[in-house]
Formats: sequence, structure tokens, C-alpha cells
Amino acid sequence: MDPELRRPITELGMLKDVQIDGAGNVRVEVLLTIAGCPLRETITADVERALGAVPGTADVSVQLEVMSAQQRQELKDRLRGPGAARGIPFNQPSSLTRVYAVASGKGGVGKSSITVNLACAMAARGLRVGVIDADVHGFSVPGLLGISQAPTRVDEMILPPVAYGVKAISIGMFVTGNQPVAWRGPMLHRALEQFLTDVYFGDLDALFLDLPPGTGDVAISVAQLLPSSEILVVTTPQAAAAEVAERAGSIAAQTGQQVAGVIENMSWLELEDGSRMEIFGSGGGAAVAERLGTALGAPVPLLGSIPLEPRLREGGDSGRPIVLSAEDSAAAGALRGIANALAARPRGLAGRPLGVTPRS
Ligand SMILES: Nc1ncnc2c1ncn2[C@@H]1O[C@H](COP(=O)(O)OP(=O)(O)OP(=O)(O)O)[C@@H](O)[C@H]1O
Ligand SMILES: [Mg+2]
Repeated sequence: MDPELRRPITELGMLKDVQIDGAGNVRVEVLLTIAGCPLRETITADVERALGAVPGTADVSVQLEVMSAQQRQELKDRLRGPGAARGIPFNQPSSLTRVYAVASGKGGVGKSSITVNLACAMAARGLRVGVIDADVHGFSVPGLLGISQAPTRVDEMILPPVAYGVKAISIGMFVTGNQPVAWRGPMLHRALEQFLTDVYFGDLDALFLDLPPGTGDVAISVAQLLPSSEILVVTTPQAAAAEVAERAGSIAAQTGQQVAGVIENMSWLELEDGSRMEIFGSGGGAAVAERLGTALGAPVPLLGSIPLEPRLREGGDSGRPIVLSAEDSAAAGALRGIANALAARPRGLAGRPLGVTPRS
């Protein structure tokens, strides 16, 4: 299985030759997509392990070579379909990917933490999930997912690193060290567009975009580039935060997007005696959902409330999201519940028959 493309190397044209002698010694020639492939050791080890498990195998030797331009083109055609026009695959009418833009009014309410946890929870259920870090200035997804590997480039195609089954891309994977990205709106738009066109995600069940706070350039670019994306609004229970969150959600009325739901974060802290301390007050999530529903003329659900939990922060710091590192915590349970609700949502009705019959 290719670690980035997540398809068998036999299907990708990466297996050049296999020779077996009478004593069971196997010599395999594998074609890498590019010369400096960062995963050459992983691929070698995976091939050795797979062959070692075959009864009768004696020695395994793996020779790595590099694809020719022609072979690379064949690989790209196989992935994207021959001569595929380069566009945004998620906008194709045939795309079954649900695209969620995770937004908020205020900063620091937990968008990025929630994005990676929802993605990991869905991937753990066997769904195919991608994450785009659309917070170009304040990128945080690589750290939250523990990704230090740079994406592999196959000509103009970029292969996103995979962590916990989630394919993720971030501008943070392209800058060295902790360099600031000082870009204005048009550059942010271009970066996002390139992530959507040049990064090979393959077929996804869900794609999450982690937005910067507020209703600025990026939120508008997302709406333009992905008109069928739906907004997930994150807020804390505090009235002041809820008011700003409502604005972030009601941008949907202007862009024609839908709001998939509201997620309340930092809802309470469980104390040692089991009681709940509502540090940021209460009711913000429900209030935002209700007011957005009224403003947009369609019900907006409160998808869940996530408690304050030190292990959630620790999971972010260590690059192992809480839904995987502390599965039993109440916060992980709440996040899983939201992921399940999103996974179970039927696809939008646009362009599909409604299945209603008139009463006779
Ligand atoms: N439920 C929670 N319990 C404990 N800590 C949390 C919780 N949610 C978020 N945090 C912590 O709060 C901080 C902000 O979270 P995060 O970076 O996910 O927010 P954000 O909305 O993406 O911020 P920004 O607006 O800067 O992008 C992080 O340190 C994170 O670990
Ligand atoms: Mg963030």
C-alpha cells in the first residue's frame, strides 16, 4: 500500500518487476514517483514485511528506482482519469464528498482542535477524510496531527501527508521553521485554490476546512471556491462569543452556503465531585443555532457541546487528538457524537429527486 496514495502499489504502476529463484529468494523492483521520495524507507519496509509473510519466502531484496516522466504521467492519469481537466474535484456534480468549513466569530474557541478530532473520529470509523488548513497565517493543523513530513510532489500534483488515516495539507508544510506567512487576500485565495486543485485527495467522504476566525478574506474565498461547502459554526457558551459567532454563520445568507450546525465548545469543566462548572456561562450554542435558523429560514441544529478537558489540549500539543488518545473522556465522546451525526447526514438535496408523490 503506498503510504501517501493509499492504494496498492500494484495498481499504481509502481511494481516494475518481481523475480523469484528456486530457493525462494525474491527480488522486487519498485518504482518511486520521485527521486527524493521521503517515504522510500517506509515503502521498502512495507514490501519486505508483506513478502516475508508469504510462506516459502527466503530472502527479500527491494530495489528502488524512479519513474520516468512517461510513467509518472500514466500514474497521474490513473489517479485523476486520463486528460482530466484540472479543476476542483469537489465541485464536480458527481462528487460525493461533503465539504465542511469550520468557522467561528472569535479566535481561540477551538476550531482547529475540533476539526482534527472530527476528522480523526470519522477516519477511525473507516471513512475517507481530508483536512485543509485554510488558516494560512495561523496554521496549526500539522502540529495537531503530529505531521512533520513535507508533502511529496509528483510534477504539479501534491500528495498530502497522512496521519491517523486523515490526509492533511497546510501551508505550514511548505515553510521552513516558524516563518510567518505575510500574505494579503489575493495570495491567500491562490494558496487555497492550489490546495483544492493540485493536492491529490482522491475520493473522500468528508473534507474539513479549518478556517481562521471571522468573516475575512479566507471565509469569502472558501465560499467562492467551494460554493457547496457547508459551514460548521464553533462558539463558546458566552453571550458575547455567541453574538460574533452568529455573524460568522450568517455570512451563509450572503454566500448562499448552508450552515450544517453549531458546535459549542468549552461548555463546562467537570469538577472532582462530578459537578459541572460553567466557566464561560451557558446557552451560547443553542442561542446561535436558534438565531441562525431564524435568520436563514431553515433549522440549524446544535450538533453537540464539548466540555473543557485538559487532555484535549494535551492531545493537541502532542499531535495525537483526544478522540484517539483519551477515547473514554467526555470530550472525546462529545466529539465522536458530532462526527457520527455528520457522517449520518444525508447528502444535500440539490440536483436530486425529492421522492415525494402527490396525494391521490
Ligand atoms: N474543550 C477544550 N478543553 C480544553 N482546551 C481546549 C478545548 N478546546 C480548545 N482548547 C484549547 O484552546 C486553545 C485554542 O484552541 P484552537 O487552536 O483549536 O482554537 P481555534 O479556534 O482554532 O483558534 P484560532 O482562532 O487561533 O485558529 C488550544 O490551546 C486548545 O488546546
Ligand atoms: Mg485555529
